[in-house]
Amino acid sequence: MDSKAQELELLQKIDRSKIPAHVAIIMDGNGRWARERGLPRSAGHKQGVETVREIVRYSNYLGIKVLTLFAFSTENWKRPPWEVNYLMSLPEQYLHSELPELVKNNVRVNFIGDRKRLPQQVCAAIDKGLQETRNNSGMVLNFALNYGARAEIVQAARLLAEDVRQGVIGTDITEEQFSAYLYTGRLQLPDPDLLIRTSGEYRLSNFLLWQLAYSELWFTRTYWPDFNRLHLLQAIYDFQQRERRFGKS
Ligand code: IPE
Ligand code: IPE
Ligand code: MG
Repeated sequence: MDSKAQELELLQKIDRSKIPAHVAIIMDGNGRWARERGLPRSAGHKQGVETVREIVRYSNYLGIKVLTLFAFSTENWKRPPWEVNYLMSLPEQYLHSELPELVKNNVRVNFIGDRKRLPQQVCAAIDKGLQETRNNSGMVLNFALNYGARAEIVQAARLLAEDVRQGVIGTDITEEQFSAYLYTGRLQLPDPDLLIRTSGEYRLSNFLLWQLAYSELWFTRTYWPDFNRLHLLQAIYDFQQRERRFGKS
């Protein structure tokens, strides 16, 4: 069966009324994809951007409400400068070519992460994306850039401590109140229903540690540049076969 036929078959099997509202993806394996082809790592990242284009379009088509993409972690600064620079050029490149289509398709761009260490041109590209899509009411396309879950939680604790000190909030803090101080709290994003990680690594690498408490996890050995619609449909289909119990019997 060719991939188009497989896609149609999976689309028929999927319950379109039970699409996971928030899908988060750890896009991994660009470097290995390139190495296996005798190409520089940058070629893997470049192809990875093509996958982002395709998966964003398809997620929107499927009716996913929030798509969070892990694009650069707080630990990725440990990579060689040329690679960091290359990765830092991608948000601008992607948004430059895709923004008109995102605007047209009612997609709202969002950002989570620490702006402080991000180069000016990255912040400017993000701000343009946020600004031009701020009135859109469709899918939220949430980029995690210079994102680390521990940094996010510590930052939330700092902001909370400051509000307690100023008497804005009491010390009797609830989970809901704490959540509101996380990056994801700003837009009141729901927790991910489904987490996908590509490339055959089975770890969270400091991604959304708080928000993933009850998410369903889906792993594939496929490298991110090879990830396609079929893989996304497969992940959603598998998600729909699972029983989410949230501790209940
Ligand atoms: C994912 O691919 C992209 C980022 C982490 C920015 P990698 O660059 O981690 O690729 P591998 O894991 O080395 O194959
Ligand atoms: C996680 O991938 C970060 C992103 C996908 C942006 P890494 O490749 O950095 O993770 P580790 O180092 O294998 O855990
Ligand atoms: Mg990796």
